[in-house]
Amino acid sequence: MTQNPANQAVPHHVAIVMDGNGRWATRRFLPRVAGHKQGVDSLRRCVKACAARGVKVLTVFAFSSENWNRPADEVSGLMDLLAMAVGREVPQLKADGVRLHFVGERRGLSEKVAAGLTQAEAATAQNDRLILNVCFNYGGRWDIAQAAAALAARGEPITELALDRAMALAHVPDPDLMIRTGGEQRISNFLLWQISYSEL
Ligand code: IPE
Ligand code: IPE
Ligand code: MG
Repeated sequence: MTQNPANQAVPHHVAIVMDGNGRWATRRFLPRVAGHKQGVDSLRRCVKACAARGVKVLTVFAFSSENWNRPADEVSGLMDLLAMAVGREVPQLKADGVRLHFVGERRGLSEKVAAGLTQAEAATAQNDRLILNVCFNYGGRWDIAQAAAALAARGEPITELALDRAMALAHVPDPDLMIRTGGEQRISNFLLWQISYSEL
């Protein structure tokens, strides 16, 4: 865990399972996708608040490896929302000093969506105020398996340190705080390796 020397009370790295979108919408007699849209608005406010308070890394769970099992129209709604949000938010994120990383299996995504993610990462690569990791088509088990496979392919011994360095979140220290909105108390295959010592 890396401490924030300026303010010890502020966590360096916050991780959030962004849950409860569907229930939020259902309570208002709206389609589930309206809840996901509201989720993007909440995330925008959350990013601003983290940057203002001196949080250095924010990692959010936006789409899990298991979320492919949802109805096809919800999955395509989420893909469209990702593509739209990325296109629309990048200029402001860039202006606010936010560096974007998309974490997860890119191969499952359409070429167009994947290209948008790569572009957004490149456009914000010079920023260092806040790192925003968006976990999309991500699973904690996927990450451990892909890291082990990468080491095996290079013929490297599989040690804790080597695995840690091969993980998709190797560019940031482990989360200090993990939050799940929506009221459930489940990890749901989020950062399995990295939350060993995170406060929940
Ligand atoms: C989280 O909200 C967003 C994604 C998983 C994409 P949900 O869609 O899981 O909302 P609830 O849990 O059904 O309320
Ligand atoms: C976890 O929420 C995944 C994301 C927030 C992206 P889910 O709603 O998919 O998890 P479960 O089904 O409640 O475990
Ligand atoms: Mg949910």
